[in-house]
Amino acid sequence: MWNFRFWDVQDVAVLVSITLYMCYLAGAISIQSPQRSLTRSVQDDVFFSVDVTCNGVHTIQWTFMSGAVSRTIGTWQPGVYTNITVDYLSRVQSFDNGSMGLSDLRLQDAGYYVVTVAERGGSSQDAGFVLKVNEVLYEDLQYLAVSALALACLAGLLMLAMWLLDRAYRKIVAWRRRKQMPETDATELQPL
Ligand SMILES: *[C@@H]1O[C@H](CO)[C@@H](O)[C@H](O)[C@H]1NC(C)=O
Ligand SMILES: *[C@@H]1O[C@H](CO)[C@@H](O)[C@H](O)[C@H]1NC(C)=O
Repeated sequence: MWNFRFWDVQDVAVLVSITLYMCYLAGAISIQSPQRSLTRSVQDDVFFSVDVTCNGVHTIQWTFMSGAVSRTIGTWQPGVYTNITVDYLSRVQSFDNGSMGLSDLRLQDAGYYVVTVAERGGSSQDAGFVLKVNEVLYEDLQYLAVSALALACLAGLLMLAMWLLDRAYRKIVAWRRRKQMPETDATELQPL
């Protein structure tokens, strides 16, 4: 009876330990992110915001994927080292919580961004982001600016033409009056 109960307690203890350990493994890494889908314009900056929590030492790796292309952007271990790929060196900013900032966006930056958090024990988790890059707004602005400039030039030319026409018209009128009137009346026409 005693023996049986003793084993019972031990079994339960083992079971609880295993469950706790599995919970620990499963919950060891968590990646929180407020937004997984982002849209930006060419030359904008983007901030992939994540908050990585991990019980142990971990490394963070960001990978870019688009079609058949897949390349590593950078790998870092918070507070230990940061290794950003040469292509991205000038545009990428790494953060301890796993976030990544990418500046001066190009059209080719559109695609999937995956953050992989790997724990020294071997377990890892990842989270994906979708980035869309528009060139529309930029082109629209440029088009608008050029149109406004063209319109302003046209308005200026029209005003100049009207002023010239007006002057020419007055001159002609004055000249015709002078021709029709006697010499003595010339003084009256001076203000014109
Ligand atoms: C991660 O850290 C950056 C900079 O400290 C912060 O701006 C961002 O909001 C953080 N992200 C999350 C999801 O907490
Ligand atoms: C940095 O990354 C490159 C390419 O991913 C790799 O060849 C290099 O060994 C890494 N350097 C360090 C210090 O981890």
